[in-house]
Amino acid sequence: MKTRIDLQRMKEENKKITMLTAYDYPAAKLAEETEIDMLLVGDSLGMVVLGYDSTVNVTVSDMIHHAKAVRRGATNTFMVVDMPFMSYHISLEESLTNARTIFQETDAQAVKIEGASTELLTLTRRLTEAGIPVVAHLGLTPQTVNVLGGYKVQGKDKKTADKLIQDAKQLESSGAIALVLECVPKELAKTVTDALSIPTIGIGAGISCDGQVLVYHDILKYGVDRLPKFVKAHADLNVTIKQAIESYREEVVSQTFPTEKHSFTN
Ligand code: KIV
Ligand code: NA
Repeated sequence: MKTRIDLQRMKEENKKITMLTAYDYPAAKLAEETEIDMLLVGDSLGMVVLGYDSTVNVTVSDMIHHAKAVRRGATNTFMVVDMPFMSYHISLEESLTNARTIFQETDAQAVKIEGASTELLTLTRRLTEAGIPVVAHLGLTPQTVNVLGGYKVQGKDKKTADKLIQDAKQLESSGAIALVLECVPKELAKTVTDALSIPTIGIGAGISCDGQVLVYHDILKYGVDRLPKFVKAHADLNVTIKQAIESYREEVVSQTFPTEKHSFTN
């Protein structure tokens, strides 16, 4: 298993870090059989696996349920687990307790939080001191979609770009081990990447990030209809799976399945 030091070294040696989301045992198992560096149990599971409209419905127990399955499938891959909506905003105590529960119960290597408020910088420092590595997440932060007013590119003007750069530096000095940058202009992502010593992992953030992350169901076109601009699909499982289901259904209806080969005799 890679460690945060390995990931750090990859940045220094200009080797791209590969990260993919996973939400269950088979996905984790298959991903681990490739050389993927990191798995993210993202709260995107609310949308791609549970069918919610956004990530705000996801709970701590949803995250734990899925992350445990991912851990069983990938025992040897660096696993980051998202802290879900409002599980790290009520009080420092409650945030620390939720992080501990997630980290301990899932055997994760790190937790991920969205944003860089003063409270979250403190939380990052406290978790780091306690031994729970924190991955930060800036740019488009889907848990605040209702405040942002939609899934839009962030940091397009100088003011918000400067704020993002400042936030990134503060997260790094608070102990964050990596930074996910979602939906920001590629120039801004490059500036942030050059300004930080910790790795940046981009999603819709251009080529200059130290690594890339995408959603499992998106790269496979698996149960998702519309793909965001920043996704490149590497398969079309929608077609493959529908063909297989239809073929099975037809054989049952036409009584060409089961055959002798699939039947027991006494
Ligand atoms: O939940 C998720 O999948 C994420 C990635 C998009 C970074 O947070
Ligand atoms: Na997420």
